[in-house]
Parts: sequence; structure tokens; C-alpha cells
Amino acid sequence: APLETRNTFGVAATAPLLADVRDAAALPELLARPEFSARAPLVIGGGSNLLFAGDPGMPLLALTAHGVRIVAEHDGHAIVRADAGVPWHGFVMRTLADGFAGLENLALIPGTVGAAPIQNIGAYGVEVREFVHAVEAFEPSTGQVHRLDAQACKFAYRDSVFKHEPDRFIVTAVEFALSRAPSLKLDYAGIGDELIAMGIAAPTPRQVAEAVIAIRRRKLPDPAVLGNAGSFFKNPIVPAALVEALQAEYPAMPVFRGSDADTRKLSAAWFIDACGWKGHRDGDAGVAPTHALVLVNHGRATGQQLLDLARRIAESVQRRFNVAIEPEPRVIGADW
Ligand code: EPU
Repeated sequence: APLETRNTFGVAATAPLLADVRDAAALPELLARPEFSARAPLVIGGGSNLLFAGDPGMPLLALTAHGVRIVAEHDGHAIVRADAGVPWHGFVMRTLADGFAGLENLALIPGTVGAAPIQNIGAYGVEVREFVHAVEAFEPSTGQVHRLDAQACKFAYRDSVFKHEPDRFIVTAVEFALSRAPSLKLDYAGIGDELIAMGIAAPTPRQVAEAVIAIRRRKLPDPAVLGNAGSFFKNPIVPAALVEALQAEYPAMPVFRGSDADTRKLSAAWFIDACGWKGHRDGDAGVAPTHALVLVNHGRATGQQLLDLARRIAESVQRRFNVAIEPEPRVIGADW
């Protein structure tokens, strides 16, 4: 099966087999077939967090169910359940239109609901973990259907149990805990300024989403126009002691809170930018002119060419700053 239209980088690759599955209840039977039982399938959502550096050797599986429903509501708090195949941004806008706040900072993130908990998508000071009530997942090796609560998901920055054990679960649906009472997070750089520019003093969650959409449109290339997978590198989390040494040399370097007192999160974009990569182009493989963290396919780049560029970028950051940066998307068909 050709995969060019199934990954937002728009790179060409071929899978031995690709099954679109509408009903998650059909998974046990499907996965018992020899084509699927011989090698764990790769589950794809919107293909927005993947780089096909070569052809995948395994079969591919996409869950296409599109259901959304409120499973419980009490006192302005609701549990909203969405099937894995629901497109993320449409889901966010629908919850806001229905009067539920929470997901507004996560507007316009590409991909599907089912992919959201896997890398714990996050933007503008919010991570999806804060709103995940439970993740429904099928475990092919045991045939069991699980319901993992947020704790069982082991969420961390761009990380979860689903990344630690990549082939163990197939996410089939996610339940979100949302509220009719907004609790807006406007402190992330840019959101407040955007709202002021929009002439809004007391924003609604919908207006916060509009501000986020405007910022993203300015900074991040639209995958429908210029192939990309969002941030190609994770922001490195490093020991606080190392940060002090770096800061002495580079006072302008941005530093963010880490997950605990001994660590800090640094800006991969800033390192890459400082190494002069922004807007760089090797044939059709390039770095976005608007954001140093985003690799782009200007036309006919291969996955291998994009991976080569990514490696050169990481090597230059390592050499100059002694900081290791790692890819955020899953790289298929090659080792990082
Ligand atoms: N910066 C540069 N050069 C650039 C871009 C940014 O030096 O070309 C520096 C600036 O100092 C800026 C800082 O990096 O203040 C942070 O930039 P930005 O606010 O764009 O955030 P980011 O850390 O680069 C992360 C997420 C994005 C998310 C934004 C906004 C990761 C890997 N990326 O990027 O997520 O949209 O924050 O919250 O954590 C994605 O994961 O695909 C993604 C786009």
C-alpha cells in the first residue's frame, strides 16, 4: 500500500499491507490473521508524528471510527469520549462549541484523538494529560481490552506508557474530563499578546483557541501546503548544573522548568537556530524558515534525506553545546 498521503511529511513509502478498521471490536479477529500475527502492526493516526525513513516491514493499521459522545455530566463537569479516529482539531473545536473548556490551548494540533495520549501532545503551557480521564486500549498479546486511567498512562513530557511499550497497546478511544467552568492558561509567551492584538480583554475559551490558531498559523507550516511533522526534536531535559554552565556562556538561552528541581527543559529550537539551520535547505529536505524545530519536505525529499538532515542538525548541536537532542516523531525503517 502506498503511504505518501498517509504521512504529513508527504514522503513516499510502501507498506506490505494497510488495513483501515472502522470497528475496534473487529481487532481480535483481524489481528489473528497470519498477515497481522507474524509481525506487530504499526498503528497510524493522521501520520503527523511519523517519518518513513524507509519502507515499514510491518503491516499498518488505522482506526477510523469517528464517534464522540458525552458519557457523563454532573455539576458542569463532563466525561467526553471520542473514538481514536476522530481528527484532533475538529474534536477540540467541537468540545468548545458544546461549551466545554480545557482543550483550547491544544487547538490546531494535527493528528487524531487516538494519537494524542501516545506522545502526550502539548502546546502553549498545556499537556493533554491534564484532561485524560481514561484511555481505552486493546492488547493484542492477551486479547484483553484495557481502560487505563491517567496514572496508568505514565505521562511525562512528550511521553507515556504507549511510547515505552510501543507495540503493546492499540488505543481505540479516549475519555476526557472537561468542565463548563473555564480555567484559562494564558501565561505562555505569545498568547496574551495575541489576545491584546485581537482586541480581547476577557477571553472565552473559544477566543483563546482562535489566538492559538493564529500563532500556530504564523509559526508552523501547514502540512497540507508544506510537508512536515511539527517539532522534529523534543526539547532536551538536562541536569540543572549543566544549565548553569551553559547560561554563563549564553545568557540569552531560554530555560524552562523541568519535571523536578534538579532538571531544566531547554529549547531545541534555540540551539538549532544558533547553529544557523533555520531556513536551511538540502535539495527538498529543509528546516522551516519560520521555526527551527520543524523539518520540511519542499517537494520530493525522501525520508532518508530528511533523516540525514536531522542527524546533521543533532550532531552540530551536540558539538557546539554538548546537548543531545532526540527526534519527536517515530522514525520507521531506520534507527536514529
Ligand atoms: N526559538 C528560536 N528559534 C526558532 C523558534 C523558537 O530560538 O526558530 C526559541 C525562542 O526563544 C522561543 C523558544 O524557542 O521563545 C520556544 O519556542 P516555541 O514557543 O515555538 O516553542 P518550542 O519549545 O519550540 C514547543 C512544542 C510545540 C508547541 C510549542 C508551543 C516541543 C517539541 N514542541 O515548541 O509543539 O507548539 O512549544 O507550546 O515541545 C510539536 O510538538 O509538534 C509542536 C509544534
